[in-house]
Amino acid sequence: MATSCSLVCMKTIMHVVGARPNFMKIAPIIEGLNSRKSSRQILINTGQHYDESMAGSFFRDLDLPRPDRDLGVGSASHAVQTGRIMAAFEEACVEYRPDLVVVVGDVNSTVAATLVAAKLVIPVAHVEAGLRSRDRTMPEEINRIVTDRLADVLLTPSRDADKNLTDEGIPRDRIHLVGNVMIDTVFKYLPLASLDRIQDRIAVQERDYALVTLHRPSNVDDPKTLRQLLDVMNAIAVTMPVVFPVHPRTRARLANIEFRSNGRGVILTQPLGYVDFLSLTSHARIVLTDSGGLQEEATALGIPCLTLRENTERPITVTDGTNRVVGTDPQRVLAAFGECVEHPPPRKCPELWDGRAAGRIIGVLEQFLRRST
Ligand code: UD1
Repeated sequence: MATSCSLVCMKTIMHVVGARPNFMKIAPIIEGLNSRKSSRQILINTGQHYDESMAGSFFRDLDLPRPDRDLGVGSASHAVQTGRIMAAFEEACVEYRPDLVVVVGDVNSTVAATLVAAKLVIPVAHVEAGLRSRDRTMPEEINRIVTDRLADVLLTPSRDADKNLTDEGIPRDRIHLVGNVMIDTVFKYLPLASLDRIQDRIAVQERDYALVTLHRPSNVDDPKTLRQLLDVMNAIAVTMPVVFPVHPRTRARLANIEFRSNGRGVILTQPLGYVDFLSLTSHARIVLTDSGGLQEEATALGIPCLTLRENTERPITVTDGTNRVVGTDPQRVLAAFGECVEHPPPRKCPELWDGRAAGRIIGVLEQFLRRST
């Protein structure tokens, strides 16, 4: 009898992924929930990212289950992409009738799924809630604000995020400080992250190269800013090789710019899979980036990081990590680069970035589902 009741009572949790930074956040949550067998997991992939290098390889590297449904939305303007995800995700919700929708991060897939679930009166849990750059020219900031306003369960990576949410009037009992789930994935795969696995494509030596990523529209869409950042890379290449895996958006912009690498070389590569990229990050001398996730990974790994933006929604990586926000002015970036190489910041790791965030998230989700019975 107990078995039939548990089958009848079993709740359905629907997880949403779509873009590269989502996959490493959802993987440990699904893995943990699957091993507990107390609820049914449904995985929806919106297809916001669709290249092998931006999505396919991550499913394999991270052992993600095959999605129950691929929405196949692809690239488009923000409104069209968000609208396509909403229409297709609504159909999936009607078919699977989830008891809870779990969204992660701040991409268009996150906000689109949240809007749909909220209108169907399906509760939403947001993993990585409460981050704010206070820069509304960033599409992600709009996505964060809307998602957090509508979500029922707000799972935060750090105390500054809790404060942002309470300052916006979000009730305290919806907010749960769980730590950073992306770091669970970093620690899980770190033993596989050796430079040997990429030597055939990128021949660099331990702590003897800078790793660069750039994909924010504010940095790559304006040819003048992109040119300046390429010049910065060439200046750094005088002292150490620069490895630059190029995001598809950036690759399209680079096609219109003439660039000749000098010094010890700027090595341009395709975007890398999860473990290959972790190999590069964990053995780098320094990281320069406009990515949010990489600021966090560098902090957890104790690698110095310069953020090529004027702000960050992750200030904890500055106060309790290895990150410095330096903007894009070449002189400022190069001065900070020199200081960081000369005097690397001490390794610190923020509270609850301990590789066990998924367990805490699962505890909160299970408690929420029990209460909503
Ligand atoms: C998206 C997220 C951003 C995240 C980033 C990580 C939003 C608003 N932005 O930005 O928060 O940091 O992903 O990569 O959700 N393209 C391909 N193949 C792909 C994916 C994209 O060629 O698999 C090209 C397309 O030309 C597309 C462009 O890259 O137009 C930009 O992709 P898009 O998903 O619109 O935004 P991202 O810049 O990747």
